[in-house]
Amino acid sequence: MATIGSDVLEAARLLMNGELVAIPTETVYGLAANALNEEAITQVFVTKNRPFFDPLIVHISSFQDIENYAQEVDRSLEKLMEEIWPGPLTVLLPKRSILSDIISNGLPRVAFRMPNHALTQELLSMLPFPLVAPSANPFKYISPTSAAHVNQQLGDKIPYILDGGNCMVGMESTIVGVENGEIQVYRKGGFSIENLEDIVGKKIKLHHSTSNPAAPGMLDVHYSPSTKLIIGNIPNLIKKYGDQRPAILSFSEDYSHENHIDSCMVLSPSQSLDEAAKNFFGTLRMIDDQGFSLILSEFVPEEGLGRAINDRLRRAGTVEY
Ligand code: TXA
Ligand code: MG
Repeated sequence: MATIGSDVLEAARLLMNGELVAIPTETVYGLAANALNEEAITQVFVTKNRPFFDPLIVHISSFQDIENYAQEVDRSLEKLMEEIWPGPLTVLLPKRSILSDIISNGLPRVAFRMPNHALTQELLSMLPFPLVAPSANPFKYISPTSAAHVNQQLGDKIPYILDGGNCMVGMESTIVGVENGEIQVYRKGGFSIENLEDIVGKKIKLHHSTSNPAAPGMLDVHYSPSTKLIIGNIPNLIKKYGDQRPAILSFSEDYSHENHIDSCMVLSPSQSLDEAAKNFFGTLRMIDDQGFSLILSEFVPEEGLGRAINDRLRRAGTVEY
């Protein structure tokens, strides 16, 4: 089993050795490897059971790294990086050839992110290379927001989990890039579109097609629990599926007093979308582990981090009204 601890030196030693280490970030835990070591990068795909067409994010700790590993940076992206980093934003930039094609699946752009977590920043600034780090979950399963989550599924495959506590944001980073001079959002995430628009000073386009090769990782099915999940109007769904004794995952209302319902998890009783985002993956995982045959859930308001939550819900289950 993996050792769980907060020894940054030990994490650095293993990474220098070409081994994999799970690292905390403000969004979700990542499965990190030396971004300049092709063998280590290959191990990331193998360990996660992830197809090679799904490209990886390169994690950095300084703007100098951008000069070293990316080519020219669009002015509007530079502004976002300066305002938001370190933080839950990933940018697609033309890559330098020093970075292997297996990181970006041969695409001309590679994803970069400067995570906002003290331990991981300390680790990155100690290392002579950046780190590739996908979320530290088996391919298609729920993303981990604590060291214990990582240990549950990857504990027997990696030597060390750097424990930085529970992730403060709880949703993966928002991914942006520039196409034809316009900023585009490729993945809704832990930095809200409203706040991005405030910085840019105009409306931002959402990249719609989920099967577009520009963002091959945005698969239709993802973030899924093992238990069947149906999203819709909870009272209606209870009427229809109540006899199956489903578990409920709700935004703010408690349905545990309803007939047939033994378990209802509430994401944010005070209706805070930030709190709901922070709790989302952990709560879904907890329900998934309780052995119910069905989970009923609902969309949250489509604003702020609610947009990222709804995106994850849609990929995790089926919608029914
Ligand atoms: O918050 C996060 O971004 C977390 C933490 C660990 O940093 N990482 C993360 O990585 O969510 P991952 O591998 O689970 O998701 C990365 C996604 C890919 O699935 C893909 O959609 C997109 O980023 N991506 C990466 N490189 C890309 C590229 N060159 N072009 C288009 N999309 C890319
Ligand atoms: Mg992921």
